[in-house]
Amino acid sequence: MLALTTMRILRSLTLLTAVLAVGATSAPTALAADGITRGTTYADAPDNRYLLGGDWLFRLDSAGAGLTQRFQRQTDTDGWAKTSIPNAWNAGDNSVASMLGTVGWYRKDFRLPDGRARMDWLVRFESVNYRTSVWLNGKPIGRNTGAYLPFDLRLPRDALKRRGVNRLVVRVDNRRLPTDFPPSGLTGSGDPAGGWWNYGGILREVYLQRVDRIDISSLLVRPELPCATCAATVLMRMTVRNYADRPNSVSVSGSFGGKRVRFGSKGVPARSFATFSRRIRVAKPRLWTPATPHLYRARFTVSLRGQKVVGHELHSGIRSIEVVDGRLQLNGRAVALRGVGLHEDDLVTGSAITAARRAQIVAQAKELGGTVIRAHYPLHPEIHELADRQGLLIWSEIPVYAIKTRYLKRLEVRKLAARELEENIIANQNHPSVMLWSIGNELSARPGPVQGNYIARATRQAKALDPTRPVGLAVAGYPAAGCTPHYAPLDVVGLNDYFGWYPGPNGQIADRDGLSDFLDGIRACYPKKAIVVSEFGAEANRDGPVEERGTFQFQQDFFNYHHAVHASKPWLSGSFYWALQEFRVRPNWDGGNPRPNSPIHEKGLLRFDGSKKPAWFDAQRLFAATPQLGAP
Ligand code: GCU
Repeated sequence: MLALTTMRILRSLTLLTAVLAVGATSAPTALAADGITRGTTYADAPDNRYLLGGDWLFRLDSAGAGLTQRFQRQTDTDGWAKTSIPNAWNAGDNSVASMLGTVGWYRKDFRLPDGRARMDWLVRFESVNYRTSVWLNGKPIGRNTGAYLPFDLRLPRDALKRRGVNRLVVRVDNRRLPTDFPPSGLTGSGDPAGGWWNYGGILREVYLQRVDRIDISSLLVRPELPCATCAATVLMRMTVRNYADRPNSVSVSGSFGGKRVRFGSKGVPARSFATFSRRIRVAKPRLWTPATPHLYRARFTVSLRGQKVVGHELHSGIRSIEVVDGRLQLNGRAVALRGVGLHEDDLVTGSAITAARRAQIVAQAKELGGTVIRAHYPLHPEIHELADRQGLLIWSEIPVYAIKTRYLKRLEVRKLAARELEENIIANQNHPSVMLWSIGNELSARPGPVQGNYIARATRQAKALDPTRPVGLAVAGYPAAGCTPHYAPLDVVGLNDYFGWYPGPNGQIADRDGLSDFLDGIRACYPKKAIVVSEFGAEANRDGPVEERGTFQFQQDFFNYHHAVHASKPWLSGSFYWALQEFRVRPNWDGGNPRPNSPIHEKGLLRFDGSKKPAWFDAQRLFAATPQLGAP
């Protein structure tokens, strides 16, 4: 009898919790209506994220005060247009005003996927250009400066609606300053300067992140390989954060390559952090290289009193990359890498590229036969993963791009650079594809104490955060610059080689025949550093005589000549063509081409529509003929 009553009570209890849970978690239809789907577009992620997709509203409006309250109260959509995220509001608008930037607003109404009171919530933006302010239900919740790197904002409990509709309002200002990354500026002819189009908007995905009392605040999986035939060790370190107002006993378990790893348990005081760390040994590691991109799955489960609250999975690759006697070595072999520079750009969407476009970019770079991709800014997380899986190395650079020394001199600029460098390393260090941290591109070609100070600080900082990767800088390849002591802290000097394309100051690079001696001069300057050609390229948009700039024939000849000189330097660790594909750069761009097609940058081996130029095939042939990963 008793047993029966208990059974009945238990059954009704389970029913009750189920109802409550359903009540608490929004109905699938509501979630779908809000365009919320569990998960991320990339695999290496915690499992408590929800893609905040579906319909968003957008408007351009540079009016100032009172707008947020008005937008918060507004019940209709007057003045707003439907859009989806990622979004670049000025994709395809090639006007000066579009390049200069303006203020855009986004609005998103959503219900929480899980309304239980114990849950905290974050909103994560993967990349917003440039200055972002965010409101939840009319309450300001945070700001961010800078694009290409993710930032999280907490949704305050006192503003959050657990049931019903929440409203997120996001103000985005893409007007740049000369102290921004990249900086604004004017060309000699008074046009807005810049190396790529200033797309405004929420350029990558947005996620809600559910925090069930404990969240993972940082995760490191760092393989170390003393030699190519040695056993490897893998440092696995996780920091968790207790969001609750009371202490919690947390346990962490995991695995690496299917082997269980125990991290143990810790009491985490209220509203504070704890770190779990283990170093494991892999006796006979299968090494990661672009030709054999072997990955190990690393899994983590965080539990409270035996109940999982969050999990995280990522794919790690065991390899070493270092500079030895002036050569870049991958797993102990001196390399002669080949590759391309690229932008996340698209004819239609601008830099708010889709997953299909991301996959296409990586597939194109692989098809070309190179082993390296380089961009002027941290690439999308998914591109990192595709590179891990498909075997491409990434020259990972922060957009400290042609910043003038008088601005680099300012403390706030160097502080922002340091922050970007740190965020890039924290966001992307678990990817085996990342070969190097680049601290900038084309700062003054005659570095003085200001730049020297920046290089020394940034290199020190990068090494402190990640002692397993070299640090580099891409510099304008001008012979008159000579040798400089200010590059001493660097491991890798990247040379942007435009001999025979641009004249350079006082015509010093007008004649391509100066290239070989220039490279030898650089070698003599920095015998212990790895030297790569981080860029070389020529615009091409028509058929014509080989001696005529801007023709496909000139581009082919340029490519073959430069590649032959690069290949003739056995000490050169890499040569990267700029660029894989055409992209939008700025109004009145000519790029050295007497018959340009502004604003399109046409040095690409692929046209903007993806079709191949003749030089593509030269590059493919020469890359295939180069023993890029070194002799066995
Ligand atoms: C520079 C710069 C690139 C630019 C290239 C060019 O070296 O780093 O961003 O596109 O020159 O002029 O084509």
